[in-house]
Amino acid sequence: MMRPAIEGGVPTRPKPWPTYDKGDVILDKEDEKLVVEALKSKLLFRYDYRPLEQTHVGKFEKSAEKFFNVKYALAVSSGTAAITLALISLDLKQDDEVALPGFTFAATPSAVILAGAKPVLVEVDENLNFDIRDLEKKYNPKMKAVIPVHMRGSASDMEAIAEFAYQRGLSVIEDVVQAMGLKYKGRYLGTYGHFGAFSMQSDKGCNTGEGGLLVTNDDRLFAKSAILSGAYEGRWKSHFDSRHPDLDDRDYPVYSFRMDNLRGALAYSQLKKLPARLKKLSSNYSYLIKQLSKNPKISIRKSLEQESIIGDSLLFSLPEFTLDEALYFSNALRAEGISCLVFGDTNRKNIRRFWDWNFLFPELDVSERKKLLPNTVKYLENVMDIPLSPTLAKTDLDDIVLATEKVLRYMDARRGMVVKL
Ligand SMILES: Cc1ncc(COP(=O)(O)O)c(C=O)c1O
Repeated sequence: MMRPAIEGGVPTRPKPWPTYDKGDVILDKEDEKLVVEALKSKLLFRYDYRPLEQTHVGKFEKSAEKFFNVKYALAVSSGTAAITLALISLDLKQDDEVALPGFTFAATPSAVILAGAKPVLVEVDENLNFDIRDLEKKYNPKMKAVIPVHMRGSASDMEAIAEFAYQRGLSVIEDVVQAMGLKYKGRYLGTYGHFGAFSMQSDKGCNTGEGGLLVTNDDRLFAKSAILSGAYEGRWKSHFDSRHPDLDDRDYPVYSFRMDNLRGALAYSQLKKLPARLKKLSSNYSYLIKQLSKNPKISIRKSLEQESIIGDSLLFSLPEFTLDEALYFSNALRAEGISCLVFGDTNRKNIRRFWDWNFLFPELDVSERKKLLPNTVKYLENVMDIPLSPTLAKTDLDDIVLATEKVLRYMDARRGMVVKL
């Protein structure tokens, strides 16, 4: 039996695992050309003298409207800015509650705080998707909005959530930051709710370094969001063809969450590449899970539909293992050269798990926080998280399979079980 690298053996791969922060992203000559063109134009501020559709940000917005088949798209400075603008446009009051899952990046509850409302945490189910049964339990008349998050690129049941919200008059803002371009039941995520909020930070579907996109079909909510984002002194009207809602922009604060034309140029070019990126991620993911599912010890996160997962990360658990064993496994995989984290790792900070959100419950210690969403803790703690960059080759995917087999065999042997050599 091969000794794992964590015990002094030879690692499965000597090269570092490809991730966006090491430059493993898709950027090509067309991206370069358009950014240089925008730079040379000397028109970097998005609202210049030209009609909106001739500016780089405007072109991106028009192509996003076409892509998602929505009436309006607003390019902004980040995904957090997109969620915040959507929430502020709803005129929430201080005590109004906004429901969101306990498994999301800390930016989601942060946006609720920025908008001056109160985040209410909702459980995720055994597949780590938004649990509508818990939303039903948490619902009360103070709840005004809900933010389902398609976390790690897996669709939550948007039909059920939208129906629930519609019956109670709740606004729905989909956090599609980790699922740009993903469809559920044939419809793009981000178009089920009143708003869809995307990010274009480097690890996302379109990479502009930082950036965000807000989509909606609602004239008035869109106009308000555009004004709040910083389309002051009538600039917001350039987003409308002829008739626009009757609003006075001086009635609203200006948050300056605009996107600039350099990023707009890049975003336009990146959006064209999104279908090819999704195709590559999906074929890599299918290959990988086919290999890994051969091992009965591995339980891979299930998606609602076979296609309703992006495939830019691999989430799985080892149900027979304790948390300590899961931690050993993830440390061993990292020693093999595969980037792998366990959500329950107490030695590492991980702001995707709600119990790390000190800013939300400063008065509670971690064990008290965990009691707020026991199912989320139970389902999330032992789960492994491996990033799958779209630049991965088949050999990289085989490395995951080989390293996993190697470590599992060693762990079996260590438990005194018979293993095939
Ligand atoms: C689920 C989720 N929501 C919101 C955000 C915030 O996006 P941004 O970093 O563009 O503000 C992130 C960032 O990764 C995220 O993962």
